[in-house]
Amino acid sequence: MMKDFGPTVLIFLCVFNTICDTVDKSKFKICDQSGFCKRQRHIADGSSNFDVNLKSGRTFKDYAVFDIVNKDNGHKFLLEVHTYMDGTFRVLMNEESPLHPRYQVEHALLPDLKKASMEFESVGNGESWTLAHTGMRDKFYVQIFASPMKLDFYSGGKKVAVFNGRNSLKYEHLRNKPDVNDEPKEDGGEETPQEPSMWEEQFSSHSDSKPRGPESIGVDIDFPLTQNLYGIPEHADDFRLKDTSGREPFRLYNLDVFEYELDSPMTLYGSIPYMMAHSPERTVGVLWVNAAETWIDVKTGGSGIVDSIVNLVGGSEDKEGRTRWMSESGIIDAFFFLGPSPLDVFKQYAKVTGVTPLPQMWAIGSHQCRWNYNDEEDVRGVDANFDSHDIPYDSIWLDIEHTDGKKYFTWDSHKFPHPVEMIQNISSKGRKMVTIIDPHIKRDGGYFLHEDALANDLYVKDKNGKVYEGWCWPGSSSYLDFFDPKVREYWASRFALDKYPSTLDLYTWNDMNEPSVFNGPEVTMPKDMMHYGGWEHRQVHNMYGLMQVMSTFEGQLQRSENQLRPFILTRAHFIGSQRYSAVWTGDNMANWEHLKASIPMCLSLSISGMSHCGADIGGFFQNPDAELMLRWYQAAAFQPFMRNHAHIETKRREPWLFGDRTTALIRSAVRRRYALLPYWYTLFYENEQTGVAPMRPLWAHYPTDAKTFGIQDAHLIGESLLVHPVTDKGATSINVYLPHGVWYDFYNYIKYEGGTHTLTVNDDTIPVFQRAGSIIPTKQRIRRASSLMKDDPYTLFVAIDEKGEAHGTLYIDDQQTFEYRTGSYLKVDLTYKNNKLSSKVVHSGPSFNSKEWIERVVILGANKKARDVKAVSKSVGSVALESEGEHPLVIRKPAVLVNEDWEIDLHF
Ligand SMILES: *[C@@H]1O[C@H](CO)[C@@H](O)[C@H](O)[C@H]1NC(C)=O
Repeated sequence: MMKDFGPTVLIFLCVFNTICDTVDKSKFKICDQSGFCKRQRHIADGSSNFDVNLKSGRTFKDYAVFDIVNKDNGHKFLLEVHTYMDGTFRVLMNEESPLHPRYQVEHALLPDLKKASMEFESVGNGESWTLAHTGMRDKFYVQIFASPMKLDFYSGGKKVAVFNGRNSLKYEHLRNKPDVNDEPKEDGGEETPQEPSMWEEQFSSHSDSKPRGPESIGVDIDFPLTQNLYGIPEHADDFRLKDTSGREPFRLYNLDVFEYELDSPMTLYGSIPYMMAHSPERTVGVLWVNAAETWIDVKTGGSGIVDSIVNLVGGSEDKEGRTRWMSESGIIDAFFFLGPSPLDVFKQYAKVTGVTPLPQMWAIGSHQCRWNYNDEEDVRGVDANFDSHDIPYDSIWLDIEHTDGKKYFTWDSHKFPHPVEMIQNISSKGRKMVTIIDPHIKRDGGYFLHEDALANDLYVKDKNGKVYEGWCWPGSSSYLDFFDPKVREYWASRFALDKYPSTLDLYTWNDMNEPSVFNGPEVTMPKDMMHYGGWEHRQVHNMYGLMQVMSTFEGQLQRSENQLRPFILTRAHFIGSQRYSAVWTGDNMANWEHLKASIPMCLSLSISGMSHCGADIGGFFQNPDAELMLRWYQAAAFQPFMRNHAHIETKRREPWLFGDRTTALIRSAVRRRYALLPYWYTLFYENEQTGVAPMRPLWAHYPTDAKTFGIQDAHLIGESLLVHPVTDKGATSINVYLPHGVWYDFYNYIKYEGGTHTLTVNDDTIPVFQRAGSIIPTKQRIRRASSLMKDDPYTLFVAIDEKGEAHGTLYIDDQQTFEYRTGSYLKVDLTYKNNKLSSKVVHSGPSFNSKEWIERVVILGANKKARDVKAVSKSVGSVALESEGEHPLVIRKPAVLVNEDWEIDLHF
């Protein structure tokens, strides 16, 4: 039978054809080609007609329920408003009695969310109600208006978010398919005229049967205080969201977009329907819990600059950011996180969606990948070359060619005849390996996975109940239905070491999990395929990758009997994927614009929970020259996930292949990464505690500084380092904006005041600044992998502020197990004050003993020589120390231990 193999052919043609180095847009829908988006997008403000019957209000301890009617057709709905801990509201709206159940997202949110009790009050003559967290009305409340329905959210007395304030709610209730012979009814039963696309839709050669007909939802959500909106990854676009007037809306529909373009609202591999609205006064977050195809219109009056000119000229006071959210199916389920600060919102969001668990230390080191390392000898050679070039790295990765004919969980017996020995060889160097394991399963009679899947009914089915077949890397493939608990259990069991020839030092990369289907509509699975529970793919599409990584995570837990922290890299992602996986920005390109784009893309992902984020170093497609490769390494050394990866048709790009000078400079960049691992690790620990990602926009810590709101060429790591990597070809200088306060260049110690500075840069410059007032823990004895640095001593960088103070934290544990969860870790608070640096153990685990010592302290901002310096601790007693210099003032070998309280006194 002939099949449409169009996309496959295109991929192979494009590899050799530079003309097609931009995305083929005809493969992907614009809003007008998506029936529901077209119906939803052109709804005029004020055109809908939903009323809340406030008299129907039923109130419970932590929620209230109201009846709603669509006055255009009499259709009835229910509105629920719930209160959660820490100033969070949730709005749910569903049909009172839908013809079929409508999908409500499962698995993405944390189970057992902590609710908060609610107080309520009917206002005026019953035109509105207010609901508030008990005793906190001065902080957070929502006011519900009856006619037309509208919800105003208040934080600290300020209106910060409005639901349906423009009265554009369109909620297509489920209905029976009209008989073809029926006359169009004028019974007021339909709020939308019948359109052909409601019951069947065509796109290119694909037809989507829509058994349930129209069921889309759409509503406006506005932010009265601000037009600075962020989030809704994944898009290759500005960090601060652009206005979509005259442009396509932002689309969220997980797709394998080949050679994606920049500055585009086109969808990519992941969808996190979460937005932050930030103003100097207040920050809020909105989470739209929906796994179906979603489009979002944004009105911010243009870029910030145009906006302020317009305001100046026109005297417009309009500061409101307007959005409209449109999903193909599901229910309205929206969380409102009311801040008030950015850090508060990060934490509120994390309480609902979860956090990235602390990775093993090696996972935040440098990773080396390629499509493909060809065989065992290749792996040996690459590994040995890292050592002979003295460049640290922590793991080597194998792409799809390592398998026997793209059958995952197998090895090519010619190229990789000794996988266990190979992994052991790598791990004997203190390193790990990672293999790719995709969700498409080769339909091959002798393949155990395929046979098990057929025998036990593990595959996604088509609408007639037949196993769905699509085309992917192995050729004809079927797709496991990870929504089925027995599939997740089966998949998890396949990671057992007696089933998958491997060791506990082999970890996992889940790619192509949008899912990618080369011959499917828009390169994915048709929407009318069927999943466990009777749901159509349409309702759950954006969660498919989440369900896969959830199951892989479970597999890695099981094989180590819950001892070792899993590591998974995913391409597709959704709300909650951070609980299981790191993420990278997919198949980017070897050019300067893509290097620049890695920052806004990872910032958007970081504020949306996916905090272990990176981009392929060098760009996946095409060949970077030495300068681009170097600058990319320098930027990536300061991003959370750091991996060199490339397409099979590119030239080799291991770090020593760009000439001696470049090799030396890449080595220098990677060594800077390794020096800072103690700081990154502490930040990842804090991320697990609080939900605040290590990589942050400047406004996270400078919320009132409007100059930071549009910045996307620089970012913070924690609160204390600001990074502005060089991302321009041939750059000899760079303009860096530093927020108010004092900053020190982290590498040459030059002092800067807040403001914009033009700095000269050379090829070894990575502009990184330490905030005065901070203490940063580092290790300066760089070895070939992070595990070999475990017991090495620390060097502390102390940058004193104008009050003569500085603060920092250091977190240490065994770097790989879950024992820290039961208290086996060490946490110390570091303080500089009154010419005294002191360390206080705030937690020391019962069975965890850390014997590292402090080998050096570098003090910035003292600006005088110390006359004498003395260390005091239990282990050293009281000893005089050597010091030298005044800026920096370096104290050598204090020899105090990290696991004891100590002090270093300076006399000037
Ligand atoms: C493992 O290392 C040993 C010693 O260097 C070598 O002889 C052997 O070929 C290696 N095995 C693999 C599979 O790379």
